[in-house]
Amino acid sequence: MKKVTLINGDGIGPEISNSVLKIIEASGAQIDWDIQTAGADVIETEGVPLPKRVEDSIIKNKVALKAPVTTPIGKGFRSVNVQLRKDLDLYANLRPCYNLPNVKTRYENVDIVVVRENTEDLYAGIERQIDENTAESIKRITKDASHRIAEFAFDYAVKNNRKEVCVVTKANICKLSDGLFLNCAREIAEKYSQIKFREILVDNCCMQLVQNPCQFDVLLLPNLYGDIVSDLCAGLIGGLGIAQGANIGKDYAVFEPVHGSAPDIAGQDKANPTALLLSAIEMLNYIGENAYANNIKQALFKTLNSGIKTSDLGGKATCSEFTNSIIANL
Ligand code: NAI
Repeated sequence: MKKVTLINGDGIGPEISNSVLKIIEASGAQIDWDIQTAGADVIETEGVPLPKRVEDSIIKNKVALKAPVTTPIGKGFRSVNVQLRKDLDLYANLRPCYNLPNVKTRYENVDIVVVRENTEDLYAGIERQIDENTAESIKRITKDASHRIAEFAFDYAVKNNRKEVCVVTKANICKLSDGLFLNCAREIAEKYSQIKFREILVDNCCMQLVQNPCQFDVLLLPNLYGDIVSDLCAGLIGGLGIAQGANIGKDYAVFEPVHGSAPDIAGQDKANPTALLLSAIEMLNYIGENAYANNIKQALFKTLNSGIKTSDLGGKATCSEFTNSIIANL
């Protein structure tokens, strides 16, 4: 039986984790979950939001499924999500965005994969308060990290029959940092003559995404733009409730939805478990359980096609009702 770490998170985390665990169990996939808690709730007992046991578990099992964990805004502890990605060198953040059946949105045929650099840029956390009126954050970009994320994007494009990689920067303004990221992408692009290469500035990219998203295929971005643009892409396909993601490194992979802990709807049985479920489906594919992954995806599509949806998608189903319908369709 394959052992997988599960971080069940906080806010809506435990509800959607419970839903996904039930669906995977009902599918017959044999997963031995190593359940680990993290975030604000464990600080009281263990002193830190990300105890060593959590990373030890992922290092041992190599694969994790993670529900969202709250990060205090403007103060308090550093994001558990950012720390995990950095400590385990999960350098590639992969966020596929495609239309789901019977989820009506402004556009049809959106099929974009966001590849976001996950370890540096403004997320390196190099910040200082110069005086009471001035603070600064350093945007650090390195050649090694830029080369390997570009390589990841092109390699992904080849393996997944994609046609184009479009690198997104603000290299006209951040000439050195974004300029370096862009140059590294150009260098890697030369090795992949079968994949079309395109360059775009991030502001224009956002406008184009809103007006004509179907022109994009694989987007390659530094960390901060990747974070923002992937939420924009989530909005194109029906919102955060269905936006899946994965953090992949050389040795470990952590699958998690794009969304956060949604404190506004936590504990009300309202959350949409689809984003975590789609992330879990990719986790099953990653560990070679493709048949189970496919069955679960078909059951999810059947539920959506039958009109059973949670309120974020305009439906009336609770998280539990939605979960039970998927299980019935397995
Ligand atoms: P959020 O993604 O939690 O929520 C934004 C909006 O989307 C809210 O209206 C929420 O109700 C809705 N939403 C999100 N997920 C949903 C779902 N599965 N079903 C239905 N509706 C859903 O973003 P917000 O409010 O900015 O962040 C809340 C907390 O989550 C913060 O502490 C933030 O730092 C943290 N966060 C954690 C992430 C992670 O663990 N990977 C990622 C993003 C944010």
